Amino acid sequence: MRKIFVTGGAGFIGSAFVRQVLEEQPDVEIVDYDALTYAGNLENLAGLDPARHSFIKGDICDRPAVLEAMPEGCDAVFNFAAESHVDRSIHSADEFLRTNIIGTQVLLDAARAKGVRRFVQVSTDEVMGSLPEDDSAFFTEASPHKPNSPYAASKAAAEFVVRAARETFGVDAVITRCGNNYGPRQFPEKLIPLMIANAMNDEPLPVYGDGQNVRDWIFVDDHCRAIWLAYEKGRSGEAYNIGARNERRNLEVVRSILAALGKPESLIRYVDDRLGHDRRYAIDPIKAETELGWRPQVTWEEGLAATIDWYRENQAWVEHIRNGEYREYYRQMYGAALG
Ligand SMILES: NC(=O)c1ccc[n+]([C@@H]2O[C@H](COP(=O)([O-])OP(=O)(O)OC[C@H]3O[C@@H](n4cnc5c(N)ncnc54)[C@H](O)[C@@H]3O)[C@@H](O)[C@H]2O)c1
Repeated sequence: MRKIFVTGGAGFIGSAFVRQVLEEQPDVEIVDYDALTYAGNLENLAGLDPARHSFIKGDICDRPAVLEAMPEGCDAVFNFAAESHVDRSIHSADEFLRTNIIGTQVLLDAARAKGVRRFVQVSTDEVMGSLPEDDSAFFTEASPHKPNSPYAASKAAAEFVVRAARETFGVDAVITRCGNNYGPRQFPEKLIPLMIANAMNDEPLPVYGDGQNVRDWIFVDDHCRAIWLAYEKGRSGEAYNIGARNERRNLEVVRSILAALGKPESLIRYVDDRLGHDRRYAIDPIKAETELGWRPQVTWEEGLAATIDWYRENQAWVEHIRNGEYREYYRQMYGAALG
């Protein structure tokens, strides 16, 4: 059996990755390490085979705890653990710098100490900043780092500490940079689950600014498959941009959700724009397609329908979150604007 160490595996993408690996890679055992912050949720890991998946609650910045949890000679570390929400980073950046940068360094040091073969850093297209609305401009692996939010700056810095570990110590590392993910189990502070949850409850849908910002959406399972292929086939020291060539304006996304749920567009409320709101992200995934043999398998229409169905069928999951710390966060973010 191959052992892998997954951090942030109780979050949205990490838990989808853990499920997919257990299903598709019968020779792999997973140690899943997660601090269970507000975004981590053990309900995301319900029903997994305990013989091949063990969960350890811990902080990636806690060096002794990481060293104890990471199995000797495990084949790979997949670093999903992060503070991941741009709005929260604008409110307070400290935790973003701590987890996303220091935590990555601690994991790299531990991976070296434990003889881990490969380190996979799960990064984001946001490290490359914002694009003009000109259709011909895309993020490529040659695009410069130009992060615009504290979140993006912390993820860019994390890429640099990964690079430094490779250059200085020869750590075998690959980086994946993906666009906006959507799918089941995404925390309802992010655009798509927020809009689905509010629409299901006939509550106003807060849309930033003019709603014309463009994001490049990918179904979470397609992202996870790309991460696995980067681990198996990626060249050490390389970054791979992951995107499904699926650019959508925020307003179009919101309208599609309302239409699918049979709810009126009168629920839309325009609220003050996010500070420094990036206008457009768009990824050229040609390197991942050619070098990794990766292709997205889920269309936007299929993925959005599956996501909406999941939230419809799992309203208890959403309610547990909406009744917790999230209630106060939501009041702070949108309370005044929505009355
Ligand atoms: N969501 C997206 O659209 C997207 C796109 C590209 C890249 N990414 C990256 O993918 C990764 C996962 O994103 P997500 O959307 O699943 O995030 P998420 O917020 O849903 O999950 C993050 C997980 O990390 C855990 N965590 C946070 N701080 C920790 C710490 N100090 N120690 C251990 N665990 C900690 C949380 O408990 C949570 O389970 C992140 O690195 C993010 O930057 C996300």
